Amino acid sequence: MNAAASDPVDILAVRGNAIEEFLGDAARLRLAVFREWPYLYVGDEASEGKYLETYRQHGESLFVVARAGGEVVGISTGMPLRGETGEVQEPFVAAGIDPARVFYFGESVLLPGWRGRGIGVRFFEERERHARGLAGVENAAFCAVDRPAGHRARPPGYVALDAFWAKRGFVKTALRTEFTWKEIGEDTASAKSLTFWMKALDGGAQSCQKVDASVA
Ligand SMILES: CC(C)(COP(=O)(O)OP(=O)(O)OC[C@H]1O[C@@H](n2cnc3c(N)ncnc32)[C@H](O)[C@@H]1OP(=O)(O)O)[C@@H](O)C(=O)NCCC(=O)NCCS
Repeated sequence: MNAAASDPVDILAVRGNAIEEFLGDAARLRLAVFREWPYLYVGDEASEGKYLETYRQHGESLFVVARAGGEVVGISTGMPLRGETGEVQEPFVAAGIDPARVFYFGESVLLPGWRGRGIGVRFFEERERHARGLAGVENAAFCAVDRPAGHRARPPGYVALDAFWAKRGFVKTALRTEFTWKEIGEDTASAKSLTFWMKALDGGAQSCQKVDASVA
């Protein structure tokens, strides 16, 4: 990595098949950033490739790419919920929310040296702009891992991103799912609980209220 903190950062919005160019960067950034608390993710290139391929195949997916000094330092992803796996769609279906109305934010992975300068806000703005342009989409949603307050690996002084997400207009819902991955210190992969956050985009108040009514 040769990019310097003083290099200006470009933000690119890359859609559908064009994200192919950035799949390797997305895998590299996910493996590096999600190894940190709170995900503690121990992944490999093969499973990353399989996961990220779903984005390339979906014509309405989006990568927001942050580039500095010609190098990719952060990526944020999204795709229509109806293109996602069952473990992502099912909590919405069970709550009576049509997946066709929801745009799902996959992840934001930004290298530590580029944090705190507004790139994370741009990741949300660009994905929301894209979602608002899709027919039938009324809400944006993402999920975040649930970790107990006393977890052995929680770094002292770690500040959860809840305030950052709330400021972007997202509400923590009662919708939950489980994803399975191997984390640092585990011999084999285990299921982890994740909670969905949701935001009504233009005209989407009805679906979101339905979920807000059962906010934990
Ligand atoms: C989430 C992430 C992309 C945010 O990126 P960022 O560029 O540092 O965020 P910004 O500079 O745009 O910050 C915007 C605001 O959030 C606040 N903020 C940023 N990180 C924060 C944190 N860890 N805790 C609390 N607030 C935070 C900033 O202070 C700023 O507040 P302001 O709007 O009042 O000025 C980045 O921290 C990251 O990659 N984290 C690790 C991976 C992760 O957990 N991703 C989310 C789940 S997929």
